[in-house]
Amino acid sequence: MKTAQIRQKFLDFYASKGHTIEPSASLIPHNDKTLLFVNAGMVPFKDVFSGVEKRSYSRAVSCQRCVRAGGKHNDLENVGYTARHHTFFEMLGNFSFGDYFKREAIQYAWEFLTVELGLPKEKLWVSVFEEDDEAEDIWVNEIGFPRNRISRCGAKDNFWQMGDTGPCGPSSEIFYDHGEDIAGGPPGHADEDGDRYIEIWNLVFTQYDKQEDGYLKPLDAPCVDTGMGLERLAAVLQHKNNNYDTDGFKSLTKAIVELTQEDSSIKQDNASVRVIADHIRSTAFMIVDGVIPSNEGRGYVLRRIIRRAIRHGHKIDINKVFSIA
Ligand code: GLY
Repeated sequence: MKTAQIRQKFLDFYASKGHTIEPSASLIPHNDKTLLFVNAGMVPFKDVFSGVEKRSYSRAVSCQRCVRAGGKHNDLENVGYTARHHTFFEMLGNFSFGDYFKREAIQYAWEFLTVELGLPKEKLWVSVFEEDDEAEDIWVNEIGFPRNRISRCGAKDNFWQMGDTGPCGPSSEIFYDHGEDIAGGPPGHADEDGDRYIEIWNLVFTQYDKQEDGYLKPLDAPCVDTGMGLERLAAVLQHKNNNYDTDGFKSLTKAIVELTQEDSSIKQDNASVRVIADHIRSTAFMIVDGVIPSNEGRGYVLRRIIRRAIRHGHKIDINKVFSIA
């Protein structure tokens, strides 16, 4: 299934469950001075969660463009060296604003993955917040998910917040097992950072609005905020264990390799090629959304990413481009 089809399938599935489809917002947050970039699908809905803004609906679905290259969620240095990190990615998300909560969030996610997409149940693994008996109970007793494939994890992994303040809460994550040929262990295990068990979906049970002094102010009504990386899901559905091998990246990595020297041994799986492909995506979308290179703030992040791409271009000897420039 092509990336574009997966994106549409997700939006259509949640629309069929009464969700309003919202187009992606700009990467520049319009309602949030605490963030440089939109770093999650929930950011454009931040004021709806906290009750400051009212909308005509209580359920929404989106595919939001995100940048994680500065601030709390910063993946920049991992990019190119793991199978799954990007400075720019698209996040699929469904949201409930005081409507449904844990039960439906888990049921919908399970139906989408195992029925709509037909993923094998035995390839999935789940984590829940260590204090969240209710979520584990729903997984085990309502979904029929085996308890021995559920990890209970602490706040570092299973309590999600977009920044130092704002809507937040315990979460339950769904992982895909890419198979024993790949190094890495399940969530909560010492070797969890490998590329074998990849988190594909984070279901956040948004119950609090974190204040500047750290106080977790309970929301009037509990909400749901989920985030699933489109690129990671595409890798699963295209039977690749590396996001850079999916259709969303292949044409870029191919074009980059074509710019290297004729006698070069550089291939599409080279780390620098992947870094450049990632950085082309993030810089293009940042510029489209109005960021220009500068010495501070978002413009400085953009400049750092461009510089990093150029540095990697030098590493693989892409003189053709530099001579044109
Ligand atoms: N808002 C959920 C996530 O980004 O994982």
